[in-house]
Amino acid sequence: MTGPESEGSQVRRAVCPGSFDPITNGHLDIIARASRLYDEVYVAVMINQSKKGLFEIEERIELIRQVTADYGNVRVEAFHGLLVDFCKQRDIPAIVKGLRAVSDFDYELQMAQMNNGLSGVETLFVPTNPTYSFLSSSLVKEVAAWGGDVSHLVPPQVLEALTRRLKKD
Ligand code: PNS
Repeated sequence: MTGPESEGSQVRRAVCPGSFDPITNGHLDIIARASRLYDEVYVAVMINQSKKGLFEIEERIELIRQVTADYGNVRVEAFHGLLVDFCKQRDIPAIVKGLRAVSDFDYELQMAQMNNGLSGVETLFVPTNPTYSFLSSSLVKEVAAWGGDVSHLVPPQVLEALTRRLKKD
């Protein structure tokens, strides 16, 4: 087969990487938008052994699976190593990242340039929905730990998991 039909038969893949401790509505918005742009979207829960999270990696994965189940083209995996190796092993040419504010830009640009220099993988930046421009997993955990209402910032499954976890501590 030649022409646009054969070119169009290649599966377009992208990855949304992060710590997701836990996933927030801001992350979910970026994943949802990536899932509309690509055929397959991997959510890579990157393991950082020097950073003990509130949730175990398996719990983070399970929450992400639950809240992305309806999208149909999202796969969730954990990875210990370089993001470019995750991409190489799965033939993923693009990383999709949300940019909340200019303050994100410096470090994100460094990582994008490093990843491109290491393996040629491209990074696409998506402007975060302004509703979530102040949102981070760390702030959600802090506010929730002090009893603040985060129900508008995380999916219901995550709210339940947070409430359960913080009650235990
Ligand atoms: O949600 P986070 O913690 O802001 O995500 C940062 C993350 C996990 C995407 C970044 O630290 C990363 O890609 N780590 C994997 C290790 C790696 O590839 N490091 C080199 C980056 S240039």
